[in-house]
Amino acid sequence: MTINPKALGALLVALAMSMGCSGASPGSNPLVHGMESPPDEVVEGCDMAQKKCTRCHTMDQLLTTKVGNPEAWRMYVHRMRLMPGAGIRAVEEPKIVKCLVYRSFGSEGLATLEEKAK
Ligand code: HEC
Repeated sequence: MTINPKALGALLVALAMSMGCSGASPGSNPLVHGMESPPDEVVEGCDMAQKKCTRCHTMDQLLTTKVGNPEAWRMYVHRMRLMPGAGIRAVEEPKIVKCLVYRSFGSEGLATLEEKAK
């Protein structure tokens, strides 16, 4: 078997990105990847989620977790914030929730969160 240099290159790029040495250029966050014109708050929240949640979870876990409704994300993020050593600040919680809810349920999901917050 020979190693295809192109595939190797792609692998190294992916590795560098997963180690976070590519800087915070927009679009390098897999949580945001594929979103069409996400709101700023969502992008911000996804950056936080990428930094904080991956202390204990793999990005893959975050990307593949399915929840039934926006409220479930809110509860998860709250519970995770209270984990010892999570290092998630209270002000970050709602933003991370927005990222995850937007990913799973789009802007309609976000709207239900905002309804509740009133
Ligand atoms: C300090 C380590 C830590 C951090 C940081 C953390 N988690 Fe967790 N997470 C855990 C542990 C341990 C469990 C399993 C125990 C549990 O479910 O209470 C878990 C469970 C979960 C589950 C439930 C999986 C299931 O099948 O029940 C989800 C979803 C989740 N985490 C998402 C997140 C998200 C999103 C973030 C970022 C906001 C995050 N976690 C940050 C440690 C962490």
